[in-house]
Amino acid sequence: MNRDVIIACDFASREATLAFLDKFTDVKPFVKIGMELYYAEGPEIVREIKKRGHKIFLDLKLHDIPNTVKKAMSVLRNLDVDVTNLHAAGTTAMMKAAIEGLTREDGTRPLLIAVTQLTSTDQEAMEKDLLIKEPIDEVVMHYAETAKNAGLDGVVCSPLEAGKVHARCGEKFLTVTPGVRFADGDVGDQKRVMTPAAAREIGSDLIVVGRPITAAEDPVAAYKRCVREFVGE
Ligand code: C5P
Repeated sequence: MNRDVIIACDFASREATLAFLDKFTDVKPFVKIGMELYYAEGPEIVREIKKRGHKIFLDLKLHDIPNTVKKAMSVLRNLDVDVTNLHAAGTTAMMKAAIEGLTREDGTRPLLIAVTQLTSTDQEAMEKDLLIKEPIDEVVMHYAETAKNAGLDGVVCSPLEAGKVHARCGEKFLTVTPGVRFADGDVGDQKRVMTPAAAREIGSDLIVVGRPITAAEDPVAAYKRCVREFVGE
C-alpha cells in the first residue's frame, strides 16, 4: 500500500463525524474508525463513510478464541473496509482463523494488521501482570514476526519501531504508526512522538493522526500539511 495519512476519527457520534468529514470537499482522506464510534453507531457508520468514498481502517482490535474471531471477521468482511486489525497476543491459531474468516469467496480480503504490545503497557506491567520477562522491544518484534508468519500484512507500532520491524519482517510488511505530531504542535498525552517527516524517514507506511488534525483550527489545512510532510506531495 502507498504511503498515506489516516485520520483517526475519534468522535462519539455519527453527527460529529460527518460534520468533520463534510469539511473535506476536494479530498477524501483515509479514515480510522475505532471502538467508540463503532459501538455508538454500529456497522451503518462504516457503510456510510465508505459510500462517501473514503478508505477505512476499522480499528476494533479483535482478541478471542479462533472460532469466534473467524466468525466475527466473516461478518466484517462484508463491510468492505480496507484495513482491519486484531491482537497478536491471540496467537497464530487465532490470526490464521481471522484470515480465513476475512477472505471473501472471490479470494479478496481487507488488509489485516496486528497490535503487538499496546503502547500503554510498559516493561513493569508486562512482567507483573502478564508474567512476560523478556525486554519489551524483543516482545514487540517477536509478535511482529509471529503475525507475519501467520500471514498478516503488517502491524500497528510506534514510529520509533517501524525501521526495526521492516528490518525483521521485510520492507513489504506494513507499519502503521500513531503518535505523530507536527514539530510545532501539542504533544497531548502521547509520550513518544515523531513528526510526519521523521516517520517517513524511518519507514512508516501509514501514519494515524488524530488530534493534530481533528482539533486543528483548520483541519483540512492540517491534513494537507501532514500529507505534504509525510507523502511529499
Ligand atoms: O489524537 P492522536 O493523534 O494521539 O490519535 C492517535 C490515534 O491512534 C488514536 O485513535 C489512538 O487510540 C490510536 N493509537 C495510539 N497508540 C497506539 C495505538 C493506537 O495512539 N499504540
